[in-house]
Amino acid sequence: MTLPLTFDYGYLAPQIDLDEIVSFQDAVDLAHRKVTQGGGLGSDFRGWVDPNKIVSVEEVAKIKDLAKKIQDTSDTLVSIGIGGSYLGARAVIEAVAFPGQGPEVVFAGKSLSVHEHVGILQRLAGKRFSINVISKSGTTTEPAVAFRIFREALEKAVGREEAKQRIVATTDAHKGALRTLADQEGYATLNIADDVGGRYSVLSPVGLLPIAVAGVDIDALLQGAKDAAAACANPDVTKNPAYFYAAARYFLYLKGYAIEIFAAFEPRLHYVAEWWKQLFGESEGKSNVSFFPASVELTTDLHSMGQWIQQGRRSIIETFVVVDGGEPNLTIPRADNNLDGLDYLVGQSMAEVNRAAYTATALAHHDGGVPNATIHLADRNAYTLGALLYFFERACGVSGYLMGINPFNQPGVEAYKTNMFALLGKPGSEDATKDVQARLGSEKKGTVVSFG
Ligand code: PA5
Repeated sequence: MTLPLTFDYGYLAPQIDLDEIVSFQDAVDLAHRKVTQGGGLGSDFRGWVDPNKIVSVEEVAKIKDLAKKIQDTSDTLVSIGIGGSYLGARAVIEAVAFPGQGPEVVFAGKSLSVHEHVGILQRLAGKRFSINVISKSGTTTEPAVAFRIFREALEKAVGREEAKQRIVATTDAHKGALRTLADQEGYATLNIADDVGGRYSVLSPVGLLPIAVAGVDIDALLQGAKDAAAACANPDVTKNPAYFYAAARYFLYLKGYAIEIFAAFEPRLHYVAEWWKQLFGESEGKSNVSFFPASVELTTDLHSMGQWIQQGRRSIIETFVVVDGGEPNLTIPRADNNLDGLDYLVGQSMAEVNRAAYTATALAHHDGGVPNATIHLADRNAYTLGALLYFFERACGVSGYLMGINPFNQPGVEAYKTNMFALLGKPGSEDATKDVQARLGSEKKGTVVSFG
């Protein structure tokens, strides 16, 4: 099968060449076995590896039924979640949903910003809305706070009993605070499997319900992922773009490169970049290894970050994601005069100009000493997005094993939570509260510089 996704490594040279990538084949074979068969760190969290199993036929049917009900009864879906319980759905919806195809999906519980949440409450005034609260643990502070706020707003708008009909909880099948609450209140529920971690969950009920509500074809999305998974069965790096990408970036990491930039020429891929940053950042950012994942939106950022990328410290590699077709036709019109000198472009499609900008940028960054590669998508639709998301997930799992870390845990995210719970006086945090307050009193004493 030929996937509508290819990997162009031409501009990784001269920093690396094909022979060097191929020399990693034994390590890639081992990482491949760990991802597909287990035996590696975190191997209990490989439920995403086979997209045929991540969600059952019955669950897909249930998701479609729930989505239809929400579409029939609501102008807006408030999707509440953070991190892996939010970014995948937003990435797909913003990349491929057409406005008006379904209710608007707004994302809450992804911050503790008062302005953000008051703004959403104001937008909901007078509208019919439903809630999908998504939390595997059921105890994450941001979505739990937001759920209290939006559940109260919904109950005020339609009454407590009707509100229960308009809430879907996506959470652990058996345990956790949200599961208990959902069972007590009789909310409809979707299950998050034990072996699927948040950032690998976009193709599970976590992502699929909001995506379906937005009118995106989830069968096509899943099919793209299934076809990408089938294509990844071959561990040969020269025949597996996901493994080539993983091996190439590992090699560059060993050479001392420290930052990987995701660069797309389509603003609608903005949240795919955000999703990618979480996927690689949380999976690999531990034990003092790996790249800092960053992103730019082009050509916009060529007029801001472009200078740094071209001539700043040579510590960066760049991964372009380029869509090769499917844009609506928009051509450059003639103007009465040719004051801007653009007459040579009259009749050209804007898409071709954008593609010329990509080709020019990849060459310029190569000349500037930035090893870069390009993932080409034939089109931007649910199918190609499913293939792209799976491509990155698979590459990330293999890459994490190449780097010698557990790609499926995130122990570092607990540090801020421990301090925050201590500061907020969470029951059980009494010792930590004393400790944090004492430290703030000493380490932060007299450290503020004021004017005057
Ligand atoms: O990737 C992850 O596991 C995290 O980003 C989680 O998805 C995020 O912290 C939200 O967790 P939960 O779904 O338990 O609320």
